[in-house]
Amino acid sequence: MNTLAVLHAAQLVTVAGPQRPRVGGEMSELAIITDGGMLVKDGRIVQTGASDEIEKALPAGAQIIDANGKVVLPGFVDAHAHPVFGGNRVDEFELRARGATYEEIAASGGGIRSTVRKTRAASEDELLEQAKKHAEWFLKGGTTTVEAKSGYGLTVEDELKILRVIRRLNTETPIEFVPTFLGAHAIPDEFHNAPEQYVALVIHKMLPRVVEERLAENCDIFCERGYFDLADSEKILRAAQEHGLRLRMHVDQLTNSGGAFLAARLHTATADHLEQANAAEIAALAEAGVQPVLLPGSVYALGKARYPRAREMIEAGLAVVLATDFNPGSSPTPSMPMILSLASTQMKMTPAESVTAATINAAYSLNRGDRIGSLETGKLANFAIYDCDDYRELAYYFGVSQTHSVYVRGERAYCA
Ligand code: NIG
Ligand code: FE
Repeated sequence: MNTLAVLHAAQLVTVAGPQRPRVGGEMSELAIITDGGMLVKDGRIVQTGASDEIEKALPAGAQIIDANGKVVLPGFVDAHAHPVFGGNRVDEFELRARGATYEEIAASGGGIRSTVRKTRAASEDELLEQAKKHAEWFLKGGTTTVEAKSGYGLTVEDELKILRVIRRLNTETPIEFVPTFLGAHAIPDEFHNAPEQYVALVIHKMLPRVVEERLAENCDIFCERGYFDLADSEKILRAAQEHGLRLRMHVDQLTNSGGAFLAARLHTATADHLEQANAAEIAALAEAGVQPVLLPGSVYALGKARYPRAREMIEAGLAVVLATDFNPGSSPTPSMPMILSLASTQMKMTPAESVTAATINAAYSLNRGDRIGSLETGKLANFAIYDCDDYRELAYYFGVSQTHSVYVRGERAYCA
C-alpha cells in the first residue's frame, strides 16, 4: 500500500460541499482548512483535516510532503479545450495585431480552416508529440483534467486520427483527457458549395465510427453564423445523443444565433462561450439546468471587449464553469490561473467563485463530479501546491507561475 501525507498547508482549499454542482452563494464556499493536511492511499484521498490530526493518523512509512506554508488546491479541471492541432497561427496573430479581425481572417481562408490544413498534413505521431508539449503546459498551471475536442481534421480519417491522439495522451501523460467529437467545427473547403453534404458526412460516417471505436464521450458543435446554423446543430446533436454521447455546444460566441435556446431545449450538459447571450437565454439555461462554460481567454486574446455576463448567470442560479478554450486561434492559453485573473478583472467573479467554477463545477460538467474537482474522502488525489499563502494570489498575480508541484492520483506529475 502506497501512503502519502500532505502536511502544513497554509490553506488546504478542499472545495468540499454538496455532491452536486455549486450555485449562487455556494460558489463562494471553498471549505478551506488552515494549517491543513491530507492523507492519501493508493491514489485516493482518505482523510483531510487539521495538519496535527493527519499527523496522528499517519501510518509508518508514509511519504510526507511538507507543504510548509503553501496553498493546496484540487487540480484544475479544464472543461473546454482544443489541445490537438498541427502548427500554430502566429502569422494570424500578427495580422490581428496589425488590425485584421478574427472574422476577416476566417473569411479569407484562415482561422480554423488554416489549422485544419496543418492538422491534416501531420501524422498521428507528430500530433502526439506537439500535444504532449501542450499537456506539459496544462500541468504547469495546476490542471490535471482536460476536456479535449477533435475538430481540426474534418474528414473521417483525420477526425479519428485526432481522437486517437487524445486516447494516447491519456496513457502517455499524467493528465486525464476527456474526449469530445467536434466534427462540426467548420465546413471544410472541399464542401464549401455543399455544406449539407458535410452535415450528412458527420452524421452518417463520422459519428458511427467515433462511437464504434469508443473514441469520444461527448459531442460538440460550433453553432455560429457561417459555421453551423440551428437546424444543422440540432440534427447533429440529436444523432449524437442517439449514439449515447453527452452534448456540449459552442454558442453565442461571435454573434447571437439563439444557440443557447437550443442548448436548453436539448438539455445539453453545457453551453459554452455565451459572450452574446441575453437575459432570456440565461433564464432558459437556468430552467433547463445547462451549465455555462465561460471562456474569457478567447475574448481577451481576440482583443474584444464583451465578456459573458457571469454575474447575471450566478445570480440566475447557473452552475458556472470556467475553462481556457486552449486552441491555436482564439485562445492560445493553457493556463487556468490566467483564466482566474480574467474572471475577476473582466467578469467580476470573486477568486472563490472562480476556483469553484474551475474545479468542482467543471468536474460535474464532465460527468466526473463524484471522482475529481474537490479534495474529499474517496476522491482521486489530484492536487497542486502553489508558492503563496492565500489562494486569492492565484487570481491576483498574473503572468507569473506560482505552481510549486502537481500530483495526479497521488503521484508527482510536475515540479517547478
Ligand atoms: O472555441 N469557436 C470555435 N472554436 C474555437 C476557435 C478555434 C480556432 O480559432 O481555431 C473557440 O474559440
Ligand atoms: Fe472552443
